[in-house]
Amino acid sequence: MIGLDFGTTNSAVARCGPGDAIRFARFETLHTPEAGDAAGDGRTSTFRSVLHFSAEQRLPGAAPIPWAGPRGLGAYLDEGAGRLLQSLKSHLGSRSLRETFVHGHRFEVEDLIAVILRDLRTAAIEQLGDSGEAVLLGRPVHFVHGTDVGSDLELDAFAEGRLIEAAHRAGFSRVEVELEPLAAAAEVESSLSRDELVLIGDFGGGTSDFCLIRLGPGQLSRRDRRESVVAVAGVPRAGDALDGRIVRSVVAPALGAGREMLSASGQVSGLPQWVYRSLERWEELSLLGEPRRLEALHRLLEQEERQARESGGRSHRFVESIVFLVKNDLGHLLSREVERAKIELSQVHETRLCFDALPRRLRGSFTREAFEQWIAADIELLSVALDELLERGGVAAESIDRVFLTGGTSLVPCVRALFEDRFGAERLRSGGELTSVASGLARLAAEREAARSD
Ligand SMILES: Nc1ncnc2c1ncn2[C@@H]1O[C@H](COP(=O)(O)OP(=O)(O)OP(=O)(O)O)[C@@H](O)[C@H]1O
Ligand SMILES: [Mg+2]
Repeated sequence: MIGLDFGTTNSAVARCGPGDAIRFARFETLHTPEAGDAAGDGRTSTFRSVLHFSAEQRLPGAAPIPWAGPRGLGAYLDEGAGRLLQSLKSHLGSRSLRETFVHGHRFEVEDLIAVILRDLRTAAIEQLGDSGEAVLLGRPVHFVHGTDVGSDLELDAFAEGRLIEAAHRAGFSRVEVELEPLAAAAEVESSLSRDELVLIGDFGGGTSDFCLIRLGPGQLSRRDRRESVVAVAGVPRAGDALDGRIVRSVVAPALGAGREMLSASGQVSGLPQWVYRSLERWEELSLLGEPRRLEALHRLLEQEERQARESGGRSHRFVESIVFLVKNDLGHLLSREVERAKIELSQVHETRLCFDALPRRLRGSFTREAFEQWIAADIELLSVALDELLERGGVAAESIDRVFLTGGTSLVPCVRALFEDRFGAERLRSGGELTSVASGLARLAAEREAARSD
């Protein structure tokens, strides 16, 4: 049984071999904003969780064939067009989105995710010598669902069911699921020489997950690892939400958010919120091109052009830029630039955002201080979840021996600062940002197999 971390942004697949050695399937690397852990061979253990449908491959009547991961991203960048879907995991917990149409063909969310899982399965068969039959998949404590922040256990179960279904469609016959922060805990445990009470925080692209757990050699005798869990908590907010704050504060105003427009009947109104909300959510970007939304955008474009004609001035080109973005499938390029700027801010104090592909050029610089103000509400949610975790576990901050932070978003300085303030830098550990969940899943998968054969 392999361990597979299907992430909102990055996925990985690993297998635990003799002597607890973890091996990862490796993939071609493209220059992604966080660059991954590409070694000298130009390959990396992470697989970008994206799917690309070429604009070119349109045989009449035939269903379009999507490409996943680096192959899909490479095709998108080469072709400069086609439909690129990202953050698909964030759709799992949404009852409203069950399917989407690409070149007139219907794809269920499970089908789309299955394409990514199938590539990972194939890599495990080819590179790790696995049979590709059984998989242990990770899942967040709470999936992203709509705009609600609260937990909804029914929706979480629904999302998990869809994830399992996607794995079956990808060819796995036996599918088991474990909480992602528990997987990260299994990875931490492999390095402990004594029993400790450990707080795990995994901050990814879609979700932030917490787990308070007793780990160490003394815990190994227990039959079920879940017996060592003191409490779990989770928030459906992470890196994508932080990107969304940059869109709201820098991109959307440059594309007309908050500006007024004249309707045909002479009424003044703002450009509709849904346009900007879709720009803020990477999983929704590609949906802006759905016929209903595109029609609505075209009506707004007419309005914009009429307003310019009537006032005798030049158009602001706000709606024109948004329509251009959608029609030319530039959403992912924009998201890369936003993500790049965010990641740069983890290192430097000021960054520039520069996107020249639209009729209106987007240019802006912003500081880490400004970014931290924009994301303050998100950080506060993490802080509340942390309180909940401690309260649920009936544990005081002082009694926690070690805090382990992982996931790409744990590299954001103010996320780390939240834990430094609460627990002190000396108790903090971090690492395996993009791989710890997959290696933990591989360890747990091997344990489950061993327990079964006993
Ligand atoms: N140095 C960095 N600074 C800030 N953010 C970063 C950095 N490196 C990566 N990220 C962000 O981390 C996120 C990806 O992290 P990760 O791969 O752990 O998520 P995931 O496992 O795909 O998502 P999830 O666990 O939520 O399903 C992205 O939002 C990315 O922009
Ligand atoms: Mg993750």
